[in-house]
Amino acid sequence: MDKLVIRGGKRLVGTVTVSGAKNAALPIMAATLLAPGEHVLRNVPHLRDVSTMGRLMANLGAGFHLEKNRAILDCTEIKNYEAPYDLVSTMRASVLVLGPLVARLGKAKVSLPGGCAIGARPINLHLMGLEKLGATITLDAGYVVVRARKLKGASIYFDMPTVTGTENILMAAVLAEGKTLIENAAREPEVVDLADALIAMGAKIKGAGESIIEVEGVKKLKPLRYRIIPDRIETGTFMAIAGITGGDITLRNTRPDHLDAVINKLKDTGMKFRLAGKSIRVIGPERLKAVSTTTMPYPGFPTDMQAQLMSMMCLAEGASVISEKIFENRFMHVAELKRMGADITIEGGIATVRGVRRLTGAPLMATDLRASASLIVAAVAAEGETSVKRIYHLDRGYERIEEKLQSLGADIIREKE
Ligand code: EPZ
Repeated sequence: MDKLVIRGGKRLVGTVTVSGAKNAALPIMAATLLAPGEHVLRNVPHLRDVSTMGRLMANLGAGFHLEKNRAILDCTEIKNYEAPYDLVSTMRASVLVLGPLVARLGKAKVSLPGGCAIGARPINLHLMGLEKLGATITLDAGYVVVRARKLKGASIYFDMPTVTGTENILMAAVLAEGKTLIENAAREPEVVDLADALIAMGAKIKGAGESIIEVEGVKKLKPLRYRIIPDRIETGTFMAIAGITGGDITLRNTRPDHLDAVINKLKDTGMKFRLAGKSIRVIGPERLKAVSTTTMPYPGFPTDMQAQLMSMMCLAEGASVISEKIFENRFMHVAELKRMGADITIEGGIATVRGVRRLTGAPLMATDLRASASLIVAAVAAEGETSVKRIYHLDRGYERIEEKLQSLGADIIREKE
């Protein structure tokens, strides 16, 4: 296993090109199962989760090849309909093959994802939606088996917005007979990107990005040529790095319009932003001012940026109250930040961070994707040396992060553990 060794304390300055969005690439890869033929996706990031999804697709009978951020998926022959435990347990997003497999083959057998570091992560809403579309669901030794002779359009209401739940139902509904209404749908840009990709394949979808999405089923779809949107969470993570180091970083090939809540919140810390088309220049102040936030479904402040904001607040002037409303256990980074000298107390799902003058480097352990990102944010601003072990968590969602940080002047190296 690899570790990252960082010597912090430098202002980071320079330009970073943002990679394609992990959470758009994964559902769009799954969506290619809906149409036989060869699909070409561009701006696909080289990430562990993308290769895991590629392995899963190959398991189902698809061809998968990723080179220079271009993925070719051949879904002519999809024979197998099972997503095995060993793949699903390493990546929850494997559940995204449920909808397309039921739509194409009339059956799917997917291991229940099991929990992960940040919470139980149930899929009851996914299954409720598939049942409404006419599927029968049975549980068999830790696997959920979904069968449907023919999916029929229906009205589906989600008790709470679910990103992959909305995506699974979208992918099932596009080949169902008749009209489907998804109410209280997730509004994330990645949901919109999936809908745009499905429309490019010939699907009839209206309202993606709003709370009500309307789908008119079609008989068949055609192979896809598509470019994935940039990763808004990678963008936000580098904004956090500019803020905490008092740096000056220009982020290229990104989508400022996907980050309104984050940019508005970070402006309150004293950070300056210059937006120009697909670029954002971010300038950090001498010292950040403390701000508070509550994580919400899009367009609210994203849960995937909660840990990175918390790291910034450890060095801010004043006290910050950060409330995590989406996942029940997304404070795994707190213990590690406290070992660097942070002053953080947790009460239920609410963390109170009192800014200190300095953090000191320490040997740390990554636990989940965004928690490990927050440790990097803290480490580049801490005095002395920090080592972060188990960075396979980080490699799931960040493409070549140490190279990008080195190009900004960070003293960071990857070592074999
Ligand atoms: C997606 O996860 C993202 N993953 C997550 O990003 C992100 O944190 C999350 O959305 C919230 O924005 C992908 O897109 C691959 P949810 P997802 O269903 O779809 C509950 C990262 O860091 N729920 O929107 O699994 C659930 O427990 C990852 O890239 C049910 O109760 O999240 C949670 O409390 C981490 N039943 C809330 O809803 C269900 O059937 C929102 O979860 C589904 C969800």
